[in-house]
Amino acid sequence: MMLVSLLLILLQVCSQLMTAVAIPTCLLNGHVVQSTHHMLRDLGGSFPVSCLPVNINISFPSSVLPAAASANPLQCRKALWVVYESLQEAGLVFEEDLPAELTWRDEKLQRFRHLQFRLMEEGQCLSGVDGSVVLSSYFSNVTAVLEQQGSAVCGWEALRRDLLWVLKSALHQHHNCFTWGTKTPPTSG
Ligand SMILES: *[C@@H]1O[C@H](CO)[C@@H](O)[C@H](O)[C@H]1NC(C)=O
Ligand SMILES: *[C@@H]1O[C@H](CO)[C@@H](O)[C@H](O)[C@H]1NC(C)=O
Repeated sequence: MMLVSLLLILLQVCSQLMTAVAIPTCLLNGHVVQSTHHMLRDLGGSFPVSCLPVNINISFPSSVLPAAASANPLQCRKALWVVYESLQEAGLVFEEDLPAELTWRDEKLQRFRHLQFRLMEEGQCLSGVDGSVVLSSYFSNVTAVLEQQGSAVCGWEALRRDLLWVLKSALHQHHNCFTWGTKTPPTSG
C-alpha cells in the first residue's frame, strides 16, 4: 500500500516536471521590473483628479492578469506575458512625442525607457504567449484619447497609472514567477 502511494506521488511529481519542461523557460528579472516600476512612479506626480473623466475611455482590463499567486507554470507565463505585452505596446506609444504640458521628469523618463527596452529584449520569447486581443483593444482606446486635442495629457497620465498597476500587481501577486537570482542593478542612463 505504501509502495503504491509512493509510486503515485512519484508519478505526480514526474507529470508536473514534464509540464514545466514542456514549456520553454521564459523569464523576466524581477529586479529590473521593480526598477522600471519605480522609475515610472517617480517621473511624475499622482494621477490628477482633473483627469478622472478620461476613465470612461481608458480603463485597464484588469481581469487579463491572473488573479491569485500560483505555482502553476501556465499562470506564470500568462502573468509575465501581461507585463511584457503591456510594456511592449506602451513602448510603441512612448515613441510619440509627449505633449509639452506634461511635466514629467525627463531623466527618469529616459531611464524608464531604457529599462523597458531591456525587458523587451529579455522577454522576447513571451511575445505571442497569449492570443488575447483585450490588451490591444485597451491600447487602441489609449491611442484614440492621445490623438484627441485637449485630452492627450490625461491619456498619458492614465496610461502611466495603468502601467504602474500592472507592474505592481504582477510583482506582488506573481512574485515567484519572476527571477530574483542575480541582483543586477540597472545600469544608469
Ligand atoms: C475600448 O473602447 C470601447 C468603446 O468605448 C469599449 O467598448 C471597449 O471595452 C474598450 N476596451 C477596453 C479594453 O477597455
Ligand atoms: C471617449 O469615447 C467616446 C465614445 O466612444 C467618444 O465619443 C469620445 O470622443 C471619447 N473621448 C476621448 C477623449 O477620446
